Amino acid sequence: MAARSMYLRPRGPGCACPLQGGGGGVMGAGTMTDQASIFVGGGGEGYGLPQQLLLKYGNRHGLIAGATGTGKTVTLQILAEGFSAAGVPVFMADVKGDLSGLGAAGSEAHKLHGPFMERSAKIGLELAYRAFPVTFWDLFGEQGHPVRATVAEMGPLLLSRLLELTEPQEGVLNVAFRLADEEGLPLLDMKDLQALLVFIGENAEAISTRYGLVATASIGAIQRRLLVLENEGGAKLFGEPALDLADLMLVDGSGAGRVNILAADKLMNSPRLYATFLLWLLSELFETLPEVGDPEKPKLVFFFDEAHLLFDDAPKALVSKVEQVARLIRSKGVGVFFITQNPADVPEDILGQLGNRVQHALRAFTAKDQKDLKMAAETYRPNPRFDTQEAIRDVGTGEAVTSFLENKGIPGIVERTLIRPPSSQLGPIDPALRAQLMVQSPVAGKYDRVVDRESAYEKLRARADAAARDAAQAEAPQDEDARDEEPADDGYRRARRYDGGRAEAERETAPKPRSSAGRSDSIGTAFAKSFARQLGTKTGQAVVRGILGSLFRSR
Ligand SMILES: Nc1ncnc2c1ncn2[C@@H]1O[C@H](COP(=O)(O)OP(=O)(O)OP(=O)(O)O)[C@@H](O)[C@H]1O
Ligand SMILES: [Mg+2]
Repeated sequence: MAARSMYLRPRGPGCACPLQGGGGGVMGAGTMTDQASIFVGGGGEGYGLPQQLLLKYGNRHGLIAGATGTGKTVTLQILAEGFSAAGVPVFMADVKGDLSGLGAAGSEAHKLHGPFMERSAKIGLELAYRAFPVTFWDLFGEQGHPVRATVAEMGPLLLSRLLELTEPQEGVLNVAFRLADEEGLPLLDMKDLQALLVFIGENAEAISTRYGLVATASIGAIQRRLLVLENEGGAKLFGEPALDLADLMLVDGSGAGRVNILAADKLMNSPRLYATFLLWLLSELFETLPEVGDPEKPKLVFFFDEAHLLFDDAPKALVSKVEQVARLIRSKGVGVFFITQNPADVPEDILGQLGNRVQHALRAFTAKDQKDLKMAAETYRPNPRFDTQEAIRDVGTGEAVTSFLENKGIPGIVERTLIRPPSSQLGPIDPALRAQLMVQSPVAGKYDRVVDRESAYEKLRARADAAARDAAQAEAPQDEDARDEEPADDGYRRARRYDGGRAEAERETAPKPRSSAGRSDSIGTAFAKSFARQLGTKTGQAVVRGILGSLFRSR
């Protein structure tokens, strides 16, 4: 009972005891003292000391691990509640659709009310129900505000990962980005990239001379991969208005950080898209946010659920970039919490950076399970009162072995902890409330409609049209009589449309060329020569954003 009584003892101003936590379970919120922290749990008899996550170490990252059904999602929920209540905006992907409950208060009518109260009593928490301000996002624009990125922002490295390209294909994509950059062809949406690839295909020879071999087979392969992505609905991710990161960092009128929830149930059908998108978001945050050193609370906390997807057969180069992003983003005040079943899924270099840990039960059926369990246990500072390995195997649902960074950033001794119940609703909210919250959201209407401004596709098309007009004008004098007599020859034009660049070559010898060269489908052919002349002159402004330059754009 020692732990329990310690709980109840007031600790002066900025007290971090749960009974004074405004009922929401966040202690000291508003009184930002050294002790400002999120109450995670405790438990009294059979459990350890009360556990709290110090807000000033919220940017030292974290891990929530455990077998299926052991309580990871609820732990994520209570941490998100804690950050939000402390004025820290949060971003999370809702993989199973059970996190929308953050937008509604838990209630007496709640079916788990009894166990919740029992649990609260055990850990000395006066549970008060409350809702948190939520913003729903959805790559597919169905269950939340659409979230988009431009192709240029995504950059060749992440895009290659997304499309599962081979190295030579990635090489071609790099050339495409470089070319877009130098030629002033903004890559915003999928059709920009597609048009650029067509252009590169049609001018492969001239482009290869400058940038090294661009194999048409590789171009074809990329085009096919883009088609697959399009069929999966991935095209929706690309375009404008692109996500304004400031919209993820909002605080509501009462000072609570907004909880951004990305619908990820459908997204999980394309694990690559899911992982790449979240990684992109992290890298954008890294690139965009200013250095803040060690803030007294994080600027944003990012929960990366199903984190193993990020690392599953990821090339070494990518893992080291993730490791780099995780290390550097800390000083931007962003905390990243990885959620995964098995901590062994997270590469060691990254695992070593995760200061705040909640380890729910791990099963140990196979020899590999046992090895993983042992490894997981060894990463904690031992507690003389129990064996960590045994505890990780034995803890029940909603219980965990925990360790949080203490003052001076030293990991606390491992404790066996009964995790507090959430203040918000457990499980999803109904669609009507979701729709209502979306209407009331501060970004309502901002992202709903796609804006298709002039970019690579339109520019390439315009160039082709202009080249065609020039050609037609040059040929006009000898063509004039013929044009009067001859009606538009659609058959001929259609033939030109389908024969790619060949008709262009034929025109050199054909007695009566037609002015149909400007059709969008013959992009590139009409100005291959002018393009060749332009090579060597850097005309375009840099359209590819920095981030991918410093971290993901180059190897
Ligand atoms: N801290 C808690 N307080 C009260 N109940 C809890 C707590 N943690 C877990 N539970 C109960 O256990 C159930 C399963 O927890 P949860 O959904 O968090 O597991 P999970 O590890 O995320 O599972 P999965 O791997 O299937 O996603 C919850 O629906 C809830 O009933
Ligand atoms: Mg879960």
